[in-house]
Amino acid sequence: MEKILVTGGAGFIGSNFVYYMLENHGDVKIVCVDSLSYAGNLVTLEPLLGKENFRFVKADITDREAMYTLFEAEKFDVVVNFAAESHVDRSIDSPEPFLMTNFIGTSVLLDAFRKCGCGRRFHQVSTDEVYGDLPLDRPDLFFTEETPIHTSSPYSTSKASADLLCLAYHRTYGVPVTISRCSNNYGRFQYPEKLIPLMISRALNDEKVPVYGEGLNVRDWLHVLDHCKAIDLIIHEGKNGEIYNIGGHNERANIDVVKTVLAALGKSEDLIEFVTDRPGHDLRYAIDASKLERELGWVPETKFEDGIKETVEWYVNNQKWWKDILSGEYVKMSEELLKKT
Ligand code: NAD
Ligand code: DAU
Repeated sequence: MEKILVTGGAGFIGSNFVYYMLENHGDVKIVCVDSLSYAGNLVTLEPLLGKENFRFVKADITDREAMYTLFEAEKFDVVVNFAAESHVDRSIDSPEPFLMTNFIGTSVLLDAFRKCGCGRRFHQVSTDEVYGDLPLDRPDLFFTEETPIHTSSPYSTSKASADLLCLAYHRTYGVPVTISRCSNNYGRFQYPEKLIPLMISRALNDEKVPVYGEGLNVRDWLHVLDHCKAIDLIIHEGKNGEIYNIGGHNERANIDVVKTVLAALGKSEDLIEFVTDRPGHDLRYAIDASKLERELGWVPETKFEDGIKETVEWYVNNQKWWKDILSGEYVKMSEELLKKT
């Protein structure tokens, strides 16, 4: 039985990872730590509460005492750190929570892992944003694991700092660390402040959909389950001290993504409203994931056309999930569910 700590498991990718691991491994126990920040929603994990192979702990990864106590008690085999402040716009408005959770929080987890002397792997879930951006007129350029760190926002800077700390703990203390740097994810359970669920929720309410600048910025979209599969491979077959890029060679300009979403919903493009650009807005992300493909045999399985259709359908069929977030009701619901843990 492998015991895995998943931090940030009540958020978008962490919750998808928890379901993915429990569905695909019979011999695994998941402990999920999440502070239930605004981005955490225990409703997402409700079907798992009370199950033998799952435990939810409400705690903050910056809380050293709580983390040391938990690590001593549980003796995890693997730690996968998803917990983060993840929204670039919020980091521009208020950087400090990003530095606290993304940098200090990661340092506390690394110390807890090291001090309790347990565990065969500490996996840090990072982002392609640590590489900065690429020009729009050089489609031949991609981020590789050797691309220098060159961050733009307080968010990406906090993530890059955490990556460097993980590598320092590997070199100095021998902590068995791996890092993955993934491109933009889409799929179910994404908080409706991020581009795709924001566009869907607003369009379904016939509200204007805000596109920054001229909508020409390019992101490299990957289905969340392809990200989960990659992390599963890295924690089991990846090499200590290594960085792995994850991305699906699926670059789209924002305006094209928004038009695809509107078409899938049968809504008019008249809903599009071009608004003031994000300060420091990265132009283009594009990942070269050939190391992961070559060394661990990973291939992205979901085609964007299929994945986006399925994702739009999920938000259409699960409107209560995101409407409870928009109304704030999910906070009360999460508190009620906490009593079951
Ligand atoms: P999210 O914002 O949906 O979820 C983050 C989770 O972390 C939430 O449940 C939140 O409650 C929890 N959390 C926040 N602060 C915490 C703290 N101090 N202690 C404990 N829990 C805390 O984020 P996401 O989109 O699921 O991203 C997960 C990870 O993947 C992040 O590290 C992010 O940097 C990385 N990432 C995201 C994407 C993407 O497209 N969303 C792409 C690449 C990498
Ligand atoms: O690349 C990986 C990163 O992807 C992750 O590390 C981040 O956690 C995740 O939030 C995401 O960052 P982005 O800034 O790319 O995602 P976001 O959904 O905020 O925006 C996607 C693009 O859409 C970006 O170019 C900004 C634009 N946008 C976004 C919003 C919210 C708009 O045009 N309008 C909007 O309202």
